[in-house]
Amino acid sequence: MEVVPLADATEVADRGADVVEALVRSRGQSAVLGLATGSTPLPTYRELIRRHEAGSGPSYDGVRCFTLDEYVGLAADHPESYRATIARELTDPLGIPADRVHGPDPAPDGLATAGERYEEALVAAGGVDVQILGIGADGHLAFNEPGSSLASLTRLKTLTEETRRDNARFFDSIDDVPRHVLTQGLGTILRARHLVLLATGAGKAAALAAAVEGPLSASCPASVLQLHPHVTVLADAAAAEKLARRDHYREVYDAKPPWQGL
Ligand code: GLP
Repeated sequence: MEVVPLADATEVADRGADVVEALVRSRGQSAVLGLATGSTPLPTYRELIRRHEAGSGPSYDGVRCFTLDEYVGLAADHPESYRATIARELTDPLGIPADRVHGPDPAPDGLATAGERYEEALVAAGGVDVQILGIGADGHLAFNEPGSSLASLTRLKTLTEETRRDNARFFDSIDDVPRHVLTQGLGTILRARHLVLLATGAGKAAALAAAVEGPLSASCPASVLQLHPHVTVLADAAAAEKLARRDHYREVYDAKPPWQGL
């Protein structure tokens, strides 16, 4: 795992956008992007859109996207569904058409097979090249709450009260936050070729330290990242605050051979 301690959320967004653009430039039309929702990736997405609109970004023609998770029980046209969110915040502005943006299908009559169908779609696409990730304050990854199997695949899950409270800011009240979700499993996430975890703000410091330096445990789902051969953690100063080896990560990053990239 490579932890990159950065000054602030702007630097995190810049490096995050660099990783996405490098992938799209090198893989072109066969690039498969894994997208996260939540507020942490938004500055990265805005930076990608800014570069795209300024004409300095790569072409997104042919690029396919897969989201991590989706609420169950929202109306199909609900603006806070993750399908609508990712279209609004990233893929529409980049000109990636809706038929190339995939997410778990929350239609009520197909829930029993939704996980399996999403796994098949991921495999058929050849897997995710770069997966953008955020981390929940309780260490959750996508919607894999503490206790989730480290080998889990896409399935229906029930949100904790804490996550529903955290996400209530996107809804009129906590009562409007769905209880159920479909989420890629931790085992699904581990199949992506490069995982890029974005963490900003003091509210993520404890979860990030547990994920990166704590024991591998289902009690901190994000600790599963320790099993993956290519993880980049982009953390701002506040989120990196509780990392015991912070100075070492900085030293490693500063001494990195330029050819290595992220
Ligand atoms: C949600 C999402 C996660 C996200 C997490 C943190 O629960 N399902 O993918 O990483 O919240 O969100 P935020 O970045 O807003 O703190």
